[in-house]
Amino acid sequence: MFDVVVIGSGPAGYVAAIKASQLGLKTLCIEESSDAKGNANLGGTCLNVGCIPSKALLDSSHRYYEANKNLSEHGIKIGDLELDLNSMMKRKDDIVRKLTGGISGLFSANKVESISGRGKVISSNKVEVTKNDNSTENIETKNIIIATGSKPIEIPSAIFGKHIVDSTGALSFDEVPKSLGVVGAGIIGLELGSVWSRLGSKVTVIEALDDFLPMADKDISKESLKEFKKQGLDIQLSSKVTKSLEHKDFVTVTYEQDGKEIEKKFDKLIVAVGRSPNSKGVIDEGVNISLNNGFIEVNEFCQTSVSNIWAVGDVVRGPMLAHKGSEEGIMVAERIAEKHAQVNYDLVPSVIYSHPEIAWVGRNENELKADNIDYKVGKFPFAASGRALAVDQSVGFVKVLSENKTDTILGVHVFGPAAAEIVQQALISMEFGASSEDIALTMFSHPTVSEAFHEAALASNNQAIHIGNKGK
Ligand code: FAD
Ligand code: NAI
Repeated sequence: MFDVVVIGSGPAGYVAAIKASQLGLKTLCIEESSDAKGNANLGGTCLNVGCIPSKALLDSSHRYYEANKNLSEHGIKIGDLELDLNSMMKRKDDIVRKLTGGISGLFSANKVESISGRGKVISSNKVEVTKNDNSTENIETKNIIIATGSKPIEIPSAIFGKHIVDSTGALSFDEVPKSLGVVGAGIIGLELGSVWSRLGSKVTVIEALDDFLPMADKDISKESLKEFKKQGLDIQLSSKVTKSLEHKDFVTVTYEQDGKEIEKKFDKLIVAVGRSPNSKGVIDEGVNISLNNGFIEVNEFCQTSVSNIWAVGDVVRGPMLAHKGSEEGIMVAERIAEKHAQVNYDLVPSVIYSHPEIAWVGRNENELKADNIDYKVGKFPFAASGRALAVDQSVGFVKVLSENKTDTILGVHVFGPAAAEIVQQALISMEFGASSEDIALTMFSHPTVSEAFHEAALASNNQAIHIGNKGK
């Protein structure tokens, strides 16, 4: 009998399993995906076909782009530049192998058992595992954590095939498509669209909504749209794909825009219109747990209506982000061990790994207006940052939103160099309930791009040094 059985080994599941074992609970992790030898392929979407391989390609493609376009003004001349896509892909695959192998090592070190197979909850204390050879085994456990993640959404107007691919296909093209269509200007569309655009594809992004990045602060949506367009992404908003056809060597895509039908031809088409939870066939019908649109229903502690069955990560409500799933996994392991853990869902940071990066934490202006909160704005442009200019990354800004009366920071939004890292500083300060004055009174190293956060906090109270002050 196990104390905890975790179904799924992505960042939600593997972290929950390690934490549970560290807390002295006898833990097993079941993973459906396996390698050629039948061993569990650990790490989930994030490590295998998500966060890690996409960031590896974003980095490589950025280096190529820089070498091709931007080094000459630094006085560095390169002769004939050549792209070796095979080596670029091999580097990405090596990183993935190293990290997924690392999870096996962490499991051994932390005494987590793992088994390859498909898990299904058949009662509150039993999980059925269907192995690769189709044999089944029932495992008894005191607690179950479902962490089965998510998969790409397929739309009827663009069915996946040889040239119409999801994000996984787009991480391993064997040549650079001359022309590339991307359906969906969301996070995957922008990250992977940027990768292939930097490597030479002519990229068209087809987005159904009228607004660009509606979940981001409005200033970031506006400024980043300009920048993406400048970088060569042809972003078509208010465009609804109605039909796509695969031909031998290309795809034709039809979309509606302003009442007109437009047809375009691409070498490849990436469909990135969101992800849906992997909940089908995971819970036996006899177990009384409800689904909402495929998401397993849980309370704020990730507990289902059956008190010893929990669900974490992409398969439950909330943003589909690795760090959100991992923190939920830790919370659940601690609660099973009878500790008082919780996740602060108000402070889940978001990052889009474009160049420059986009990152934020807390609420944006539209959300504060909708909640009738009296707020002030402190903004500082990277164009006025010495370090940003020195490193040739002076696009964008830091924007700090604080409560007018108390000065408490409510949201920090960054578009620019090291945006993701700056937002982690904001995140920590917000966890401690900081005011913009607290940040203003903190000494930052010079020259750093983080100084833009310091200056934006100063600007919240009209005290910025390096710009003309402008509050709300
Ligand atoms: P998953 O990682 O999806 O893992 C679920 C695991 O469960 C899988 O291994 C699956 O095989 C297994 N499984 C499913 N059903 C069963 C079953 N019945 N039995 C046994 N095993 C089962 N997030 C970020 O925070 N930062 C990023 O930079 C980022 N980049 C991304 C880039 C791309 C291209 C994609 C696609 C996603 C990205 N994400 C990113 C999102 C991130 O990958 C997910 O939020 C995260 O992986 C969710 O973790 P999870 O553990 O809930 O699920
Ligand atoms: P997304 O939800 O970010 O974006 C999907 C986009 O597609 C939206 O703009 C939506 O309006 C549009 N869309 C939906 N249906 C459409 C249609 N029929 N035609 C045209 N456009 C359509 O989803 P995406 O990009 O697939 O990513 C899935 C999730 O993966 C993200 O929401 C995020 O949680 C996670 N992710 C996180 C990353 C990060 O943290 N850096 C990187 C990549 C993915």
